[in-house]
This record gives sequence, structure tokens and C-alpha cells, in this order.
Amino acid sequence: MTKVVKKKLKLKKKNFTILLILIFTCLFIVTNGINVINKIITNKNTSSTKQTEKKKEINEKISHYNKNFKDRYIAYKKKNKNLSDEEIITRVNIGLDNEYYTNTKPSTNLNKNTILVNKYNYLEENYIPNDLEDISLQYARSGMKLVREAKEAYEAMAKNASTSNLKLVATSSYRSYEYQEKLYNNYIKSDGIEAADTYSGRPGFSEHQTGLAVDIYNGKETYTNFEKTKEFEWMQKNAYKYGFILRFPKDKENITGYIYESWHYRYVGTKIATYIHENNISYEEYYVKFIEPKK
Ligand code: DAL
Ligand code: ZN
Repeated sequence: MTKVVKKKLKLKKKNFTILLILIFTCLFIVTNGINVINKIITNKNTSSTKQTEKKKEINEKISHYNKNFKDRYIAYKKKNKNLSDEEIITRVNIGLDNEYYTNTKPSTNLNKNTILVNKYNYLEENYIPNDLEDISLQYARSGMKLVREAKEAYEAMAKNASTSNLKLVATSSYRSYEYQEKLYNNYIKSDGIEAADTYSGRPGFSEHQTGLAVDIYNGKETYTNFEKTKEFEWMQKNAYKYGFILRFPKDKENITGYIYESWHYRYVGTKIATYIHENNISYEEYYVKFIEPKK
């Protein structure tokens, strides 16, 4: 081989090596680049999943949070994005994520002033409260009964109202399961079930069966016009001092499940009544926050 040919061959070999090095470098850069990009994408996805999870979570520190209801809270929050975690917990604990009269359970705290009877909590057919007593005819139509403590508070309240020339007359108070059944069935006949359910408890689901609820009128105006009377005005200011609350307020229909009833009062005792009066909440809200055992 001549010297020139040898030199040429050497040069070719060198070029080939450089080319190989170049190819490998390019391959290395491309593979690493892809890896880096992949990592960035994965990181982005995880952080956005974490963020959505955080959004879905409910604040467990809220006092009446119930760990057994976690999934229900999340599902309810999805459908009610405008509500705070506190409101979500309150409403789900009440049962409002289920239709009225579904997922019902027997009332607890029987024969106590704190008993809750509503569209999710019912009394058995044979439940009759202890200590039922007749309300004085001075302040009631005949045959009206309440549990003794509630009756005494009611009479004291009516007596005090009378000193301002105002008349409180109980027109409905304790009702047995059977009586409520008759009433409810009559309402269905006249107005249909959908309307009846807005103003009457189904048998077992009316708190009139507790002996702690009373419908009041002033002896003149029909009870459905109670709101327009001076007696109502007086009740607005004074009922809580005797342990009574307006049970179905105007702005709480979605929580109580009933239309506003200016005539229907519930005895809960002065401590609870004062809290409810001052905080403008329904008994359902009070109950799930302060009475129901924590889980
Ligand atoms: N009117 C009330 C809601 C009842 O029937 O208990
Ligand atoms: Zn009533």
C-alpha cells in the first residue's frame, strides 16, 4: 500500500468515528429530553389531581363532622358548590342529601325536650309522651294537652301576654299517631299528597305527637293569619324567654321541609330557645350541631 492510500484510509476511519460519536450524542440528548418532558407532564398531572382532591375534601375539623358521611359530604359538595363546608356538613347530617321521607330513622331522646321529629326522624305508632296534662281553658280550646313542663311554660307565657291585653289560645297541641293519620289523609283528599306534604307531617313524623308542639291563634283571627296579629308580634319578641321557638320559619323551608307556619311553636327549654332566637337557626341545625352524638 502506498503512503497516500494509507493516509486516506486513516482519514476515513477518523471521520467514521466522529460520525458515530455524533450519532450517539444526538441519541443521548433526544432520549434524555423526552424523559425530562415526561417528568414535567407527570408532575403537572399529579399536582393538579392533588389540587382537585383538596377541593373535594371537607374540613374534618368542623365540630359536627361525621367520618361515616365523608362520601355523602363530597357528593353533596359536588352538587352544591356555593355552600361552605360547614353548611354541607350540617345539611348532610340533617339528611337533606336524601329525599324527604327516605333514609328515615326512629327518633332518639324520647320524652326529652330535645327530641327531634321531622321528615327523617319518626315516632312509633305506640309512642305517647309521659306527663301529658290539659292546658288551662283560659289559654286553650278544650281538650288541648302538652307535656307538663311545656304546658306550664305555655300557661306562664299566655298569662304574661294577657297582661298586655293579648290573647294566646292553643288550637292544636298533642296529637296521637291515629289523629295525625286522619288529619293527613283528609289533607291528601282535599289538596293532594304533594301539597299536603308541605304543611302536614305524615303519621309518626309530626312533632305534635311529642306533646311539645302547639298551634296558637288569638281567639279571633283564623290561625293561618296569626302572622298579622299583635299576638304574633309579641311572640316574636318573647316566646324564647319561655322556651318556645317558631319551628317552621320563613327562610328555612328547605331545611325543615315545611312552609312557613307563624302559628306553630315548639317547646325546647329556655337555653336552647335563646340560642336559636339569637342565632336565627332552625331546630334541625341546632340539633345536628349540639345534640346529636359526635361520631
Ligand atoms: N303542621 C306540622 C308540620 C305538622 O303537621 O306537624
Ligand atoms: Zn302545628
